[in-house]
Amino acid sequence: MTDFDLLVVGELNADVIVACGAVRPAFGQVEDIVDDARIVLGSSGAITACGAARLGAHVAMAGVVGDDWLGEFVLARLRERGVDTRYCVVRPGRRTGMSIVLGAGGDRSTLTFPGEIGRLAADDVPPGARNAAGHVHVSSYFLQYDLWAGLPGLLRAVRDRGATTSVDPNWDPGRQFTHGLPELLPLLDYLLPNEAEALRITGRDTVGQAAADIAARGACAVVKRGGDGALAHHPDGTVRTVDAPRVEPLETTGAGDSFNAGFLATLAAGGDLTAALRTASACGALSTQGRGGTAAQPTADRAREVAHTLTVGTTTADGSETA
Ligand SMILES: Nc1ncnc2c1ncn2[C@@H]1O[C@H](COP(=O)(O)OP(=O)(O)OP(=O)(O)O)[C@@H](O)[C@H]1O
Ligand SMILES: [Mg+2]
Repeated sequence: MTDFDLLVVGELNADVIVACGAVRPAFGQVEDIVDDARIVLGSSGAITACGAARLGAHVAMAGVVGDDWLGEFVLARLRERGVDTRYCVVRPGRRTGMSIVLGAGGDRSTLTFPGEIGRLAADDVPPGARNAAGHVHVSSYFLQYDLWAGLPGLLRAVRDRGATTSVDPNWDPGRQFTHGLPELLPLLDYLLPNEAEALRITGRDTVGQAAADIAARGACAVVKRGGDGALAHHPDGTVRTVDAPRVEPLETTGAGDSFNAGFLATLAAGGDLTAALRTASACGALSTQGRGGTAAQPTADRAREVAHTLTVGTTTADGSETA
């Protein structure tokens, strides 16, 4: 019996989402008018936590903000969604992180001021927190540099009491894609990268090879492929693919995190890997229908409606295929 289905150990920040329309940002004292701009809850961890809570999971978050109004804003948005913030740290005299997300023509450019984003250490997550959850998810591994040293111990403690673990690495701004991640794989039930990240982490040329490498180290590789859906390679050799619903994206921030939310909430509710992939893909696509990571995250009913329309293909370890 646990208090929470999911504990997210994650970075916290606000996003400034700017819809540039036809404008391309230019230096040289230029001022331009854009279509839309808003300050919203950002960060892979918080968006995953909010998505899972919206789907009905009991979720707690561990992360760090500064003692500024932006930190209050971030924690208020989490609480509004029913995410328990008792394990979040407000660090005196420090500043909350912020990303400026400039979106134009389906592409985007992100400028991040880290503030306290990387400053959560494993020791900041009390044993009571990791013992209270059925699953522990770590977001944006490469941004959370203070976590690197203590994370193996934290994950070992989680697995020792029979709970499950996952990491979404997200992009490495340092372009190294290592920082102890390969050694962490045997301690993970799921690694949830996107395709570009999976290729860089493994040094492979194809998503299939990359996923197989990750699975060979003990973690189920769940690779997100944008409009092409996702692929999951289980350590037992089974490979599943799920397509993505056809949608016209409005703004794609948080699609991968909303995918994670659907995936983890389905497993927490007792669903199998196939059901988790369907819900995840539905949640990822639906989240692109609003500006910012959390605005269009679906309820369980809405996610179910869309998930039912998706196909999962399975290839088993002996090479046989089922649809
Ligand atoms: N254009 C799209 N059309 C349909 N579904 C999409 C689209 N973009 C994303 N999705 C859905 O969202 C999921 C995750 O998106 P994506 O592969 O972009 O993850 P990501 O790169 O980790 O995202 P993020 O930028 O949030 O980190 C996909 O697997 C898919 O199910
Ligand atoms: Mg991602």
